[in-house]
Amino acid sequence: MNIQRFTDGRALSQDLARRMLAAIDRQPGLVLGLPTGRTPLPLYAALREQTPAAGTDWSAVRTFNLDEFVGLGASDRESYRAYMERELFAAVGVNPAHVGFLDGRAADPDAECGRYEEAIAAAGGIDLMILGIGANGHIGFNEPATGLHARTHRARLQPGTRAANAALFGGDISRVPEEALSMGMATILRARSVILMATGAGKAAAVDAMIRGPITTMLPASFLQLHPDVTVMVDLAASPR
Ligand code: GLP
Repeated sequence: MNIQRFTDGRALSQDLARRMLAAIDRQPGLVLGLPTGRTPLPLYAALREQTPAAGTDWSAVRTFNLDEFVGLGASDRESYRAYMERELFAAVGVNPAHVGFLDGRAADPDAECGRYEEAIAAAGGIDLMILGIGANGHIGFNEPATGLHARTHRARLQPGTRAANAALFGGDISRVPEEALSMGMATILRARSVILMATGAGKAAAVDAMIRGPITTMLPASFLQLHPDVTVMVDLAASPR
């Protein structure tokens, strides 16, 4: 893994935004995998800022987000879909027809997960996957467990993960859904290139274990050690020893 350290989340985000815009300039039909959460907020702000100055055209870019809460869809303001519209898609001009998203309100969640895998394959696979990491080492909503799912699936969220997502729900953990739909480990590992971002002291232990520890289902991000093209971008607080 290629580890890159930055003084703070802002510097990290400015650098990653420049890198992403350059990738889109080189390959206008780039297929992006995207995360939500607090970590990517400064990245999306940097993309909103830099896109007009760089003149980057997002109209042919395709996006697939990692996950969505079960029960929430585009019209729910707490949904990850609504978050992405607010933070990125509308401002940079992603074509709505090119947005891939899991529908948390799908009547048949298993069928919805299958549809998502097919949509990613039909787009030619993910070129660049941007990831955050949970304090417990989860990626997407692949939580530590004795076994992990390869494909997109329905996931039960751990209490700590629900607490970490409470901000979207006015700080009320009881309103955070108990389940989500998430890309699986193979869905993520099949991306051609992966960039994981981690900021803040709360992520330092997970980052350290991801890089140095054994590959274990108890720390799902450790499976990234198997991928040939992973860059880990950290601020000083999240920096491994
Ligand atoms: C959330 C998301 C992940 C995200 C992670 C870290 O639960 N499902 O995709 O990377 O947890 O979130 P944050 O950046 O807010 O710490």
